[in-house]
Amino acid sequence: MGWPCIGETLQMYSQNPNVFFTSRQKRYGDIFKTHILGYPCVMLASPEAARFVLVEQPHLFKPTYPKSKENLIGPSALFFHTGNYHARMRKLVQASFSPEVTRKLIPVINRLAISSLESWANGEVINTFHEMKKFAFEVGILSIFGQLNKTYTDKLKENYSIVEKGYNGFPTKLPGTAYHRSLMARRRLSRIFGEIMRERKENKLFANNLLGHLLNFRDENGNTLSDEQIADNIIGVLFAAQDTTASVLTWILKYLSDDPKLLDAVKEEQKAVCESGDGENQALTWSMTRKMPLTYRVILESLRKASIISFTFREATVDVEYDGYLIPKGWKVMPLFRNIHHNPEFFNDPENFDPFRFQNPPKPNTYMPFGNGIHACPGNELAKLEMLVLLHHMLTKYRWELVGSSNLIQYSPFPIPENGLRARFTKKFDRK
Ligand code: HEM
Repeated sequence: MGWPCIGETLQMYSQNPNVFFTSRQKRYGDIFKTHILGYPCVMLASPEAARFVLVEQPHLFKPTYPKSKENLIGPSALFFHTGNYHARMRKLVQASFSPEVTRKLIPVINRLAISSLESWANGEVINTFHEMKKFAFEVGILSIFGQLNKTYTDKLKENYSIVEKGYNGFPTKLPGTAYHRSLMARRRLSRIFGEIMRERKENKLFANNLLGHLLNFRDENGNTLSDEQIADNIIGVLFAAQDTTASVLTWILKYLSDDPKLLDAVKEEQKAVCESGDGENQALTWSMTRKMPLTYRVILESLRKASIISFTFREATVDVEYDGYLIPKGWKVMPLFRNIHHNPEFFNDPENFDPFRFQNPPKPNTYMPFGNGIHACPGNELAKLEMLVLLHHMLTKYRWELVGSSNLIQYSPFPIPENGLRARFTKKFDRK
């Protein structure tokens, strides 16, 4: 449990957190305790234990997030909740990101991917992670609001980029601090959402997107959601969608750059998809995205190897007994996804990047890049689809070279390659 009060927090932050968890797993086994960030915690590195917490007994464990995040995102965002409210909000979010709804977004995601790539190929060195974030943000806005005019999109971008700087800051309301600036930007976002909602209500525009579902909601007594509840859930989805997707895309670029033979094979597959094309001009259709087994496995393997969400947090709401261990009420419980994804018992030679391992499905409950159970990621289909679309255009029409070193890992807080993976893109010569 480390030192009084601070426990092992310093050890965790002074080394790569993955080394911290793995060394303790080796020493103590798959279930062990520690004390970090002011809380006693139980770490779970076995698939069965993670399943127990996330799938079998989720009502005994509530999600917990730092106060700084909860204040900025807004307390009504679905992932802070359990029970009835969570189930209702989740139904709305799932309906907005179902495969049927998501596949209709392909034409616009195509356009966003093409214009993003076009903007990178100007001879300048780009920070891949930053550029992927812009792309993921635009896709997020599209899937939440449907078509939105540029003035609104620009205002949302500007204010959200200030809000996100406060996510990991110390929650103080002292003017002049980054956190205070984020709170102010968060208020402006609420006002902008308010204007958009008013317009949609006046014009009765309740489309099949997240905002439409939230505006349409009525409970059994006919009550609607308040503007604040809607705003919190919109920010919640943006928060869940942006850095996650952007960091996985950045890792894909890194893993492909590190393996020229694999890169060639994926390019070949994408070229064949183009030639089989049933879409017009540069358009990629839904059926074409289903003809990319190797690219799809590269995504699955990148999700495994990078394990950008290394673990999640829950808190025991009562004393819980599991497999002879007592988890006391109030203790944090952390299923360690990354340790499970890097366990050689489940993934042979786990440090090797090998998309072909996904020719066979992983053992049950050993692969959880999108979590598991009642809080599992409702955006996973959209995330995979936008990655496939971007990769398709990138691999068929562009070349890139990495600039400078990219072997170290930074935490933003998700792991990303050093300096966001600096790269120079050029457009391939069009032979037509
Ligand atoms: C590659 C990209 C992504 C990864 C790796 C990822 C991963 C995850 C994981 C592991 C969880 C579960 C967290 C937990 O149990 O504590 C989660 C939840 C969630 N994700 Fe994602 N996600 C991604 C993209 C997205 C996108 C694009 C959206 C929205 C369109 C989204 C929306 C959400 C929401 C709303 C939740 C909370 C669900 C709930 O509490 O019921 N995610 N995600």
